[in-house]
Amino acid sequence: MSLTVHQGEILHCLDDPTEHQDAWEYFEDGILVLEDGRTVACGDSKRLAGRFRGADCWTRHENGLLVPGMVDTHIHYPQTEVIASHGARLIDWLETYTFPAELGFSDPVRAHETSEFFIRELLRNGTTSALVFGTVHPQSVEAFFEAAHKRNLRMICGKVLMDRNAPADLCDTAETGYLESAELIRRWHGRGRLGYAVTPRFALTSSAAQLRQAGRLLTENPGVHLHTHLAESREECDRVVRLFPDCGDYLDVYDRCGLLGRRSVFAHGIHLGDREWGRMRETRSNIAHCPTSNLFIGSGLFPLSEADRHGVRVGLGTDVGGGDSFSMLRTTNEAYKVQQLRHNVVSPLRLFYLATLGGARVLDLDGCIGNFEPGKEGDFIVLDYASTPLVTRRLACASTIMETLFALQMLGDDRSIRETWVMGERQYPDQGVST
Ligand code: GUN
Ligand code: ZN
Repeated sequence: MSLTVHQGEILHCLDDPTEHQDAWEYFEDGILVLEDGRTVACGDSKRLAGRFRGADCWTRHENGLLVPGMVDTHIHYPQTEVIASHGARLIDWLETYTFPAELGFSDPVRAHETSEFFIRELLRNGTTSALVFGTVHPQSVEAFFEAAHKRNLRMICGKVLMDRNAPADLCDTAETGYLESAELIRRWHGRGRLGYAVTPRFALTSSAAQLRQAGRLLTENPGVHLHTHLAESREECDRVVRLFPDCGDYLDVYDRCGLLGRRSVFAHGIHLGDREWGRMRETRSNIAHCPTSNLFIGSGLFPLSEADRHGVRVGLGTDVGGGDSFSMLRTTNEAYKVQQLRHNVVSPLRLFYLATLGGARVLDLDGCIGNFEPGKEGDFIVLDYASTPLVTRRLACASTIMETLFALQMLGDDRSIRETWVMGERQYPDQGVST
């Protein structure tokens, strides 16, 4: 048994601040105590320190803020190299940049090398858990899971299912997609901290037969996730209605195949009608809101207040490479601005919740990650109060923790992440995990 203590300023959420305003804890001088990588206590240092004097290791974190690791609820690792590609809207962007990039992942060496880079980039940005798209190639998911497993990360990934409206070399079939997914689930789901997500790309690139096979995978493998895109752009929505004339609306295409539920995560959901919101709520389905991507691709302004009104859970996603940053702080910044344009002023605490416990809830992993409640896995980061001269100067005049938090969210990026710890082990700065 190894007992470790981290001392410093600590902040975490206990619940959604829109529902329970006081459901957060801040300790100006706090300690986070871990035993074998899991939280055993978190609280005021004066109150708790005496109980843990005999700890094996005691680390002080000065001039920074210790918070839970960030949770990215939607990202594509094979799009790492097409991040920041110019000048296209969704369908064009997929055809011009994304599909050509994804073709390269039939090569396991390429998949391995990109997975390693991608995971290092997540850790450098303070993201400790993510829901990740692979490509259609099973070897892309093998490579990603190997890289995540080696570092004991809590990650979810899946092979893309796509059997039409895409280059032939990126297509599987309803049957091969089913068989390859089932084999990946058998090999990886529940191994260490890993989970599998059945991953049809979106309604435009799957036949109804393939979407039904996706539903079959969910029924046959309780506990796996469903991960796809939904109502991101108007053009996409119009095409879906034409492609599935029997369905009442976009969400109905997925619903009829049994793809909705509390482990289902739909990226975007910008252009949904009332019926769809109601059905999302009824089935406890979740949204990954990706503001950097929605602005970059020009898809629209996500109506967070509609999700709140309907009681639909929302997390934040970077959606790299549609999104132009790996940083959940940058993502938080853009989420704030998107809501400003919708006349919805979001509090710093709500933004913080969306990037941590809210994301964990969207992934149905809040029993394991998202805050510092006893028993949870010890994934945390240290945000640096002196990452740039401007941050130092701005924080010198912040008089409350919420003012400090908001300035970090608006001014922060990868430079703000001083350290990233996974199950109580420091993984960034790098301790030299071999690749
Ligand atoms: N819709 C279908 N595929 C994709 C993708 O790769 N990225 C984004 N942003 N939207 C999609
Ligand atoms: Zn996406």
